[in-house]
Amino acid sequence: MTVDYCRDPWDANVLNARSGHRMEFPEAIIGEVQGWIDRRPDVVDDEVEQSDVVELEQLNQLARRVRVELTEGTGVARVLPPGDVDDLFLRRYYLAFGVLLGDPLGNYGRLYDVKDRGGDYTKTAIPVSQTRAATGLHTDSSALDVLPDLVGLMCIRPAKSGGASRIACALRAHQRLVEEDAKSLSVLQQPHLRDIVTPGADRSQRMRNQFPVFGDQSGRGVTCRYMRFWIEKGYENAGVTVPEGLIESLDALDGYLEEEGAVANFRLQRGEMLWVDNCTTLHDRTGYEDDPDAPRLLLRQWVKYLR
Ligand SMILES: [Fe+2]
Repeated sequence: MTVDYCRDPWDANVLNARSGHRMEFPEAIIGEVQGWIDRRPDVVDDEVEQSDVVELEQLNQLARRVRVELTEGTGVARVLPPGDVDDLFLRRYYLAFGVLLGDPLGNYGRLYDVKDRGGDYTKTAIPVSQTRAATGLHTDSSALDVLPDLVGLMCIRPAKSGGASRIACALRAHQRLVEEDAKSLSVLQQPHLRDIVTPGADRSQRMRNQFPVFGDQSGRGVTCRYMRFWIEKGYENAGVTVPEGLIESLDALDGYLEEEGAVANFRLQRGEMLWVDNCTTLHDRTGYEDDPDAPRLLLRQWVKYLR
């Protein structure tokens, strides 16, 4: 069986060999963004529009390069940090960048603080982003009607230890299932319940919140929406028996996702941005320990393409 993928499936070696997914920060952007901050010292994050930032020409050029890598390349783009800039600069640079890529979603507020809030996602229905636990490879949003095309992270402060990023190509795992385990693949192509933790999503519609792990989102060919924990919780909380073969199929998927050489590992430095296509790339982070005086802080954006 041959499958038409919207991009070539990759493993860690292929990704790392592709220099195009790691971009230098163009120094000229510092003056541009600082000029915008000077002109508009106070902005409401959720009200910034393309027209507010379209004149930041160097930033625009960088956003276009990132967009090409996200749509036509690997679906992963990292932009290395600027030099010595303050937190306000990083926030505004990152916010403007999200607006230039599309429509940043407001479910969590556009710039959402990913930091340890002391909770335990296995005991209460909170997003893993509010804990310091390892997450497992996943895509973002467990709600049927909320699907960011892109997930972006800006590192304000890395953790004292741990907190490394791990990313993997969902299309590669799909390809492996096609080659080796068509039965599991067919189970993963059926709609499955997901627990809903996304703010703003309608939790009364629990039984409606079903969709496949591998589907065809927006007619793009193979796409993926996966977080194992919320699938298992979805069945448990709805009181519905887990379909036959589902656990085995999730095990098979996890096995291919974690195959040797499949996952790219790296640690975001302060000021570094990571953007991934949320429908073809899974992300994860290792557990971490904080310095209480300087806890890990990443800003996240969910962006929908303007169609
Ligand atoms: Fe995530």
